[in-house]
Amino acid sequence: MHPISGRALTVLLVIAAAPIAVRSQSIVNVDLRAAPGTVEVAPGVPVNAWLFGGTLPGPVIRLREDQTLRLRFHNDLPEPTTIHWHGQPVRLGMDGVPEVSRPATATGQEFLYELDGLHPGTYWYHPHGVPSQLDMGLMGLLIVDPIDPHADPAYDLEQVVVLDDWFDPLGGAFSGHLLGGRSSAGQAPIVVQTGQRLRLRILNAAALTNYVIALDGHPMTVTHADGNRVQPVSVQALPIGMGERYDVLIDCQNPGVWSLAVASLRNRNTTLVRGIVQYAGQTQTPPSAAYVPANLSSGTLLDYAQLAAFHPVMPITPTPDRSYTLALATTSGSSGMIHTINGESWPNVTPVLVADGEQVQITMTNLSAMMAGYHPMHLHGHFFRLLGTAGGVTHPPVKDTILIRPNGQPWSSAVAQVAMDNPGRWLLHCHDMNHMASGMMTVVDYVGDTDADGIGDASDREPTQATPVTMIAASANAFVPGATDQITVQWTPGELVSLFAGFGELATPVMMLPYGRIELDPAGALFMGSSTADANAQAGFAYSIPPSPALVGLRLVFQSAATTPLPGGVRFGTAQALTIR
Ligand code: C2O
Ligand code: CU
Repeated sequence: MHPISGRALTVLLVIAAAPIAVRSQSIVNVDLRAAPGTVEVAPGVPVNAWLFGGTLPGPVIRLREDQTLRLRFHNDLPEPTTIHWHGQPVRLGMDGVPEVSRPATATGQEFLYELDGLHPGTYWYHPHGVPSQLDMGLMGLLIVDPIDPHADPAYDLEQVVVLDDWFDPLGGAFSGHLLGGRSSAGQAPIVVQTGQRLRLRILNAAALTNYVIALDGHPMTVTHADGNRVQPVSVQALPIGMGERYDVLIDCQNPGVWSLAVASLRNRNTTLVRGIVQYAGQTQTPPSAAYVPANLSSGTLLDYAQLAAFHPVMPITPTPDRSYTLALATTSGSSGMIHTINGESWPNVTPVLVADGEQVQITMTNLSAMMAGYHPMHLHGHFFRLLGTAGGVTHPPVKDTILIRPNGQPWSSAVAQVAMDNPGRWLLHCHDMNHMASGMMTVVDYVGDTDADGIGDASDREPTQATPVTMIAASANAFVPGATDQITVQWTPGELVSLFAGFGELATPVMMLPYGRIELDPAGALFMGSSTADANAQAGFAYSIPPSPALVGLRLVFQSAATTPLPGGVRFGTAQALTIR
């Protein structure tokens, strides 16, 4: 046995014998499963879907901004997947982008997402990687409440409004549009009392449709855009691009039974789906599904130019450290139409290079006037601060998704600044599933090595903490009896990595700075071997599973420990479990 493996094991055993301080922050534990299922979008109207937690939309995950989310994700889908926390500037390793954050989670396997430092507001989660997974029902809201309940304007009741398009991806009895996972025929009314103030948290989770939403008989007051508070703006109708969220307040002062109606931004004269807002005691028949409220078809739309951040934010600088222009366009490729950014199509792209601490200005311009050419552009891990609005340079609205309109319309071009404060490699892409799948995606790469572990930020799966990253394969057949594969640990080239395996995690990980933390239960943990990380920062540990069906269901946990030239000399890696299937 190499000396380091002995040393690391000794540290594990010492720690196990004398557990020390644990984190004080409160932890919210969630188990979330993705699996195929069937839901009814209206009574007697079943559709086949892929679902988080068995529901459409998936469960609302809710916590306070000072809490940590520890979410154990189980993949029971027939293909690998991940969870992306849209809009939350999580650290790269938790961002849920296959092969950028971590390998995807294989069928039958699990991954532990740990999110802290979450921003208050209305956010959402969905898969990444295989673009079509976004269109099969896998999505839900992540609501983060502010510590101070008065940080948000007062309201009496709250309702989430998740909009989605449903083109029957897996077979079923419905094709069309959904509000809260239900068609117009399946809506339960939102019941309000006269005088109440209703807060709606509206998400456009569709894969192919930018919407307009309006409540007949009522204006809406926009209070948050993409989770971030804005100065109140009263609007008749709200355009909402794919991936965007708006929180609105509605003063319920107009008794009746009203249509909460949704149209496509490209055609406001057809109601695609509608919810119902019913004042208590009002008994008239709800408006028909086809009814088009006047404000839906012709009410003044919210314009980005009206938005201003509620609180001062980092001001727009006249002298950004770098400026980029991204031209959005289409061209015909060998396999049909492709979507491009600066003439390039994913994955053959030139990264947008940035450095930690910089202010970078990004101009996104649509070269196409086609009506199909709406591009809700989303940047992972960061916020855009949008120029050219009522917020000026001190209160620019803070968003994670900006809907770029067809050329010739207002907002066919948008200028935003981004504070580069989250090292790594981050996707910047159109949230239209077809546009994304046909190339409209690029990356923002940090230059430098923030954690000084010898792995550049853009390829480091944990760029801000010097931690060996333990990874298991994304392919399901790596976990069957008789399989041969390897566990990979990303770590400093030339440094020695040791791998330990056991049957479970400690109930509470033991923090041990600067070494990292112990997650694997050292009782019964076995030393699996040592390997030196190669020039690509990879240390491989081959394994083969004996061909015995009796092993099916066995769950093994792996944790690495490694040498480093950094102070302390040893670092504990992340833990990763696999289950034999
Ligand atoms: Cu909402 Cu890259 O995603
Ligand atoms: Cu697009």
